[in-house]
Amino acid sequence: MTISARKLKHIQVCLEYPVHYTSKTTGFEKMPWAYNALPEINLEDIQLETTFLGKHLKAPILIGAMTGGADLAATINKNLAIAAETLGLGLMLGSQRVMIENESARASFAVRQYAPTTLIIGNIGVAQFKKGYNHIQAKAAIELINADAIAFHTNPLQEALQIGGDTDFANLIPSLEQIVPQVGYPVMLKEVGHGLSAATARAVQNVGFAALDVAGAGGTSWAKVEDFAHHGKLLHPDICEIGIPTLEALEQCHTTLPNMPLMASGGIRSGLDIAKALSKGATVCATAMPLLEPATKSPEAVMEVLERMIYELRVSMFVAGIQRFGL
Ligand SMILES: Cc1cc2nc3c(=O)[nH]c(=O)nc-3n(C[C@H](O)[C@H](O)[C@H](O)COP(=O)(O)O)c2cc1C
Repeated sequence: MTISARKLKHIQVCLEYPVHYTSKTTGFEKMPWAYNALPEINLEDIQLETTFLGKHLKAPILIGAMTGGADLAATINKNLAIAAETLGLGLMLGSQRVMIENESARASFAVRQYAPTTLIIGNIGVAQFKKGYNHIQAKAAIELINADAIAFHTNPLQEALQIGGDTDFANLIPSLEQIVPQVGYPVMLKEVGHGLSAATARAVQNVGFAALDVAGAGGTSWAKVEDFAHHGKLLHPDICEIGIPTLEALEQCHTTLPNMPLMASGGIRSGLDIAKALSKGATVCATAMPLLEPATKSPEAVMEVLERMIYELRVSMFVAGIQRFGL
């Protein structure tokens, strides 16, 4: 299967199959949120602005890394980019391997024209660094689309369940120590929904990452996406539930690297989830799956979901008496 065909299949599976975790949740639903009946602040004075990877965001929210490469992906990326620009949020793109290896796939990632001021983050998988990629491809991934930064995704479980997946993750950390400082742009590390642990955070502390996206369990299980994509059913149901719940991953990474900017993602579904993640040390949050189906329709459909989350974040902060995080 070509990379483009696989990307399209992933989108179809995500739209049609139950690919969320069933036995595992993010943990945010169990986390209490203080209610203050006299918060002593004005809802209108809640401040959501923040800076991430050197760029200003109107709210601490990014559109999660999803796609690129297929025709449908071009529509999805365009709608996501317009929504991000309109709301002043960040945009993470899906894996750019397809456009590095096939020039015709480049157009689907060319979103800068729709999002001139947006924080745009490119994406490639760390497994490619065992297959000849180095800082040159990473830099090209950023510069070919005028992005501001890049996320390296690490996804051993997903690759293991993908037929023909790239499963050589041996001795990657020394390679990353060489590559990351040479990229010349901010580089972040992300999982794809199975979570970064304290041990992983500790292992990469000297690599030079500008931020980590904990991308924990409780939302989309990429192991499930691969299982459904290849077998049309769940062949490995217990394996597909492996992962560190997002709240746990966030706490582990924050405790291990208290000064590292952290993105919380994986199962972020409401503004209250975002408020809780910010109170536990995240600088920003990202959400992917809830925006996929709206992104097949229009920028307005994407904005509706994000505006709801922004409003919920405001209200959550208001009733807890928090005017601003990070002060
Ligand atoms: C359709 C789709 C495609 C994705 N493709 C990528 C990708 O190319 N690179 C990547 O790092 N993550 C990718 N992801 C993973 C998301 O960025 C995110 O880590 C994961 O879906 C968990 O977040 P969620 O529960 O909000 O969906 C994709 C997610 C979706 C839904």
